[in-house]
Amino acid sequence: MKNTEDPLVLFSLWFQDALQVLPEQANVTSLATSSSAGHPSVRIVLLKDFSKKGFVFYTNYESRKAQEIESTPYASMLFYWHILERQIRIEGSLKKTSRKQSSKYYSTRPRDSQLGAHASPQSQVIPSREYLEERYNKFERKFEGCTVSLPKSWGGYCLEPQRMEFWQQCPRRLHDRFLYTKNSQKLWDRSCLAP
Ligand SMILES: Cc1cc2nc3c(=O)[nH]c(=O)nc-3n(C[C@H](O)[C@H](O)[C@H](O)COP(=O)(O)O)c2cc1C
Repeated sequence: MKNTEDPLVLFSLWFQDALQVLPEQANVTSLATSSSAGHPSVRIVLLKDFSKKGFVFYTNYESRKAQEIESTPYASMLFYWHILERQIRIEGSLKKTSRKQSSKYYSTRPRDSQLGAHASPQSQVIPSREYLEERYNKFERKFEGCTVSLPKSWGGYCLEPQRMEFWQQCPRRLHDRFLYTKNSQKLWDRSCLAP
């Protein structure tokens, strides 16, 4: 495994490798959040951007995950790229992206997805599939011939990493595990973990 002081550099290298072999799935990540009672929940989201500031995904701000993030603004992301035999765990605090950033990304989404964001009260109980279709049709009529606006309840979160762990499968189950933790000077400390 490449030795680097900066886990973002290593993440970027591994992500590029994943894009080569899994172009459609490289950005699929599990996102774990926790309720105020300490009960965890996990689901898949798509990583849409990453930089020194953190790891960005988009979602509904009234969803179950968003409610959990509101009470416990800390989360964990897990990437697993089976062909590469690599896993990356990221943990850190979450902040909403600016409305400007969310809007910029939203404008790049296919129109169907934009309408879907209006139609779907994500994670709420709904009466039926038809209810959803009707809502979709309603918003399709509403925005006919014009740009689909960004819903108030839709936007991004940025996970600012405080802990990142890289796992690479190796022979004899003696896998590599490199842990990066942010210290009080906001610099990264690196250590090796037993597999
Ligand atoms: C491949 C895949 C990609 C997904 N991407 C997203 C995403 O980027 N944002 C999102 O809110 N939900 C995404 N979902 C749906 C979530 O897994 C989840 O069902 C939804 O966000 C509601 O989760 P919650 O009730 O825990 O808030 C995706 C699901 C799959 C299977």
